Amino acid sequence: MQRNILITGGAGFIGSHLVRHFVRKYPEYRIVNYDKLTYAGNLENLKDVENEPNYVFVKGDICDEAALAAVFAKYDIDGVIHLAAESHVDRSITDPLAFARTNVLGTLALLQAAKTAWKGEYEGKRFYHVSTDEVYGALGFDGSLFTEKTPYAPHSPYSASKASSDHFVRAFHDTYGFPCVVSNCSNNYGPYQFPEKLIPLFVNNIRHSKPLPVYGKGENVRDWLYVGDHCKAIDLIFHKGVSGETYNIGGNNEWSNIDLIRLMIRITDEELGRPSGTSDSLITFVKDRAGHDLRYAIDSSKLQRELGWKPEMPFERGIRETVRWYLDNGSWLDNVTSGAYIEYYEKMYSGR
Ligand code: NAD
Ligand code: DAU
Repeated sequence: MQRNILITGGAGFIGSHLVRHFVRKYPEYRIVNYDKLTYAGNLENLKDVENEPNYVFVKGDICDEAALAAVFAKYDIDGVIHLAAESHVDRSITDPLAFARTNVLGTLALLQAAKTAWKGEYEGKRFYHVSTDEVYGALGFDGSLFTEKTPYAPHSPYSASKASSDHFVRAFHDTYGFPCVVSNCSNNYGPYQFPEKLIPLFVNNIRHSKPLPVYGKGENVRDWLYVGDHCKAIDLIFHKGVSGETYNIGGNNEWSNIDLIRLMIRITDEELGRPSGTSDSLITFVKDRAGHDLRYAIDSSKLQRELGWKPEMPFERGIRETVRWYLDNGSWLDNVTSGAYIEYYEKMYSGR
């Protein structure tokens, strides 16, 4: 079946994996990647699919209502998978307004654009909002998990903005019968993640023998999922999820930060051919993140039971392959940390 799918934020970390997955798996679909190319968006991430006949890139802001209307009309969009967002918690602490603009107002502008373009004819249409487990707040060390029924309790400006966007999506469903699904996923890891996030930042620092800033005591727990498994879940939910429903996605793979950091140090030293323990002394305990959520852990049994998804990548293999990828792609890391790609793509798209 021919479909025209708008993927927002497709030049970012998860978005670029998702665009590649859809472009390759569904040659009969046209995939329109709509991305503002902020510091986190990098078209280098999609070099291997940029010339595919079913792929189109449009540089644009999800807050720009006129640009969105033009894209919906030009490409006859019938499906949206919305990932564009400001995504880094630490940045949200210093610049919360940027998160409200993109994550809240941008999501609302995108919902409005789809609603206007689809004119109430929702047969065959779908709006998929990709969200985070951080909307549920923080768990204690008591073994409980986030389910789809866990009440929202965001703590950071990032998670508050994502929570707000989730509410707008559901409000469109309840008010207008708008065809939408939401998923809330745990921490992703894999290639092409911007090196401000824990795993790529630390691999890059170990590579350069720079300090590894561990927030607080390093006791916070995250539930890590390989990005490819997230993309397979999104594919399933996009095609088979029930309109109006929410699906939790998680790795069933909890790690305290300090244990994960020690594992990364061991693997990175091994892969660099350094003697065991070389980088242990890089661990540097620093002031804790403000409002730092203690533990996230997802119960994804609804998705497993109803749609047959399960995480496939074993963590030991996924993390080693991820470390290897960053070490093999040092020029990608150098390019994004220097910001050189921003200037390059700004020049390429200026005047268009
Ligand atoms: P990212 O920061 O790597 O990428 C975000 C992308 O959105 C970039 O390409 C950026 O250029 C684009 N973008 C930002 N503002 C935009 C705007 N105003 N208009 C158009 N494009 C814009 O993010 P990510 O880690 O890939 O996360 C993608 C989505 O998945 C986000 O919505 C995030 O909340 C959600 N999520 C992420 C994780 C995770 O672990 N990374 C887990 C669960 C959910
Ligand atoms: O849970 C899903 C979320 O995971 C996504 O919605 C977010 O977009 C994504 O950024 C991620 O949020 P976290 O805050 O969990 O990820 P981050 O990589 O920033 O941090 C992971 C943990 O490591 C967290 O407990 C903070 C800690 N940390 C992070 C950095 C960058 C450190 O100790 N030192 C650091 O330098």
